[in-house]
Order: sequence, then C-alpha cells, then structure tokens
Amino acid sequence: MSNPGEMELIHIFKGIPFTTRSSPELLKSLDTFDAREDDVLLVSYPKSGTHWLAGVITKLYNTQITLTSPIEYGDVSRLEELNKLSSKRIIPTHLDYNMLPPNFKNKKCKMIYISRNPKDTAVSMYHYYRDNPNLPTVDSWTAFFDLFLKGDVVCGSWFDHFLSWEEHENDKNILFLFYEDMKKDLPKIVKEISLFLGLNVSDSDIEDICKKSSFSEMKNDTEKENGDSSHTVCALTSNRKLIFRKGAVGDWKNHFTPKQNQRFEEMFNEKMKLSKM
Ligand code: A3P
Repeated sequence: MSNPGEMELIHIFKGIPFTTRSSPELLKSLDTFDAREDDVLLVSYPKSGTHWLAGVITKLYNTQITLTSPIEYGDVSRLEELNKLSSKRIIPTHLDYNMLPPNFKNKKCKMIYISRNPKDTAVSMYHYYRDNPNLPTVDSWTAFFDLFLKGDVVCGSWFDHFLSWEEHENDKNILFLFYEDMKKDLPKIVKEISLFLGLNVSDSDIEDICKKSSFSEMKNDTEKENGDSSHTVCALTSNRKLIFRKGAVGDWKNHFTPKQNQRFEEMFNEKMKLSKM
C-alpha cells in the first residue's frame, strides 16, 4: 500500500483486513445475526468466482429468492434489512469460517464454498486492486505478490481462509467447489449444485443455465445493464463491471517469475501440509 492516506480504506478486525465498506460495528454485531434454516450461503475468498457461482445459483430457482449483498458489507443497519426480507435468502460472504455468525452453523444452513487456484486468485486480486477505488493502490505486481503471500490484503491470508473452511469439508451442509472444475465441466457442477440444494432441474434447463452463465454472456449482460451496477456479491467493490476481466485458468503464468513461483510453492507446501488439496 503506497499512499499512507489510503490506509484509511482498510481497517483490521480480529486480525483480518477489511475495507471500510464493512463497518466495525457491523462486524461486531455479526455474532447476533439471526439465520434462517433455509438460508443458503455462498462463500469464497475474493476473486474465486463468486459472481459466476451466484449467477448459476440464482438461475436454478423458479421460486422467489433474494441474492443479497455480502453479509459483512455495509453498516449495522444491514442486519435489520436482511431480517426484513420475506423471500428465501442467498447470502454471499467472504468471511473466514471462524467469523461466520454462529447461527448459520447451529441451524446447519446450506453453504457452498468456491475455491480457485491461489496463484490465479492472486493475479485476479492484483488487477482488482489496481482498478478498484475502494482498495489501496499497489505499485506493481511484485509489491502485490509480497502482500498476498503475507496475507496483508483484504480478507487476509488465502491459506488461512481456505484452511478454516476445509476443516469442515465433511460437514453435510457444506459443498466444496473449485473454479477450475466449473471451467472444465460446468453442466456437471451445476447438476451437483442443484442436487445439493434439493432442486429438481432438467438437463435441458441445466444446458440453458450453462449457456447463460458463460463468461462472455455474463460480461455482456453486465455491460448492457443501465441500472444499478453497485449490487455486487463482493464486499470490496461498488462496480460490477470490474468483475469480469479474463475468466481464464492459468493466467498466473503470465505474471509469476520463476522465483516468485518457487516462493509461492514453498509457502503453499508449508501452509497446506495438512490439507488434502
Ligand atoms: P479474472 O480476474 O481472473 O478474470 P469474484 O466473482 O469472486 O470476484 O471472481 C472474479 C473472477 O471470476 C474474475 O477472474 C472473473 O473474470 C471470473 N469470472 C466471473 N464470471 C465468470 C464466468 N462466467 N466464467 C469464468 N470466470 C468468471
């Protein structure tokens, strides 16, 4: 973070950097949040494909649902607003498992965690930092790479986030998905999601949903939108148009130097030694 004034864009809560778009009062109040049994949580570390997954999920329902903005976004009045919603709620969040309102866990709400190769996640986040006025400026990829490895970025360390959720991978109410699997075989993953959510969706509907959820379709739809582009499922941006950049697997190869790759691998092997990933 190059400019000291920009530090005001970020505050630390329970050791994790948040943008000031998540007020400390709201974060403190999260523990009191009243979950409903039929809430569905859409969980991710930023830049893992959250909007893509949200696009798919909202198309799966033919009953009324509301895709809310992230639970940690806004000020404390947000919780009251969420309480007032009468329809089924699909609630995105970038929270670490340990910070999740306990009510979601006690009520065994369904949660879908989407993860992505952390190297591609880092590159996607780097571009997001550069384009997004709500995030501090970064001078270069080299500088951002160091911040990412240290976990000195919004939402903290990718490794800690992933591990906090992976510990619960056998919980029946949590479905783990990978961005790369969605790229490889979207219909298969959409089917998996629909079964997990208990929805009866025909193969032809799945085919249609996949077409409408392609990168180019979603990007076009967003660009055509005249209305409010501030409704995002990411607590870090006020502009949906920043989301759809490249949508590719392996873009890290265009950014990482061999030395950075080696440092990343060392860190990955160390941090993830107990992980099944
Ligand atoms: P890139 O920056 O690598 O392009 P999030 O929604 O969690 O913020 O993640 C954003 C990333 O998901 C961006 O990655 C974006 O392009 C990618 N993405 C969004 N919609 C997508 C789609 N339909 N297919 C593939 N990738 C998509």
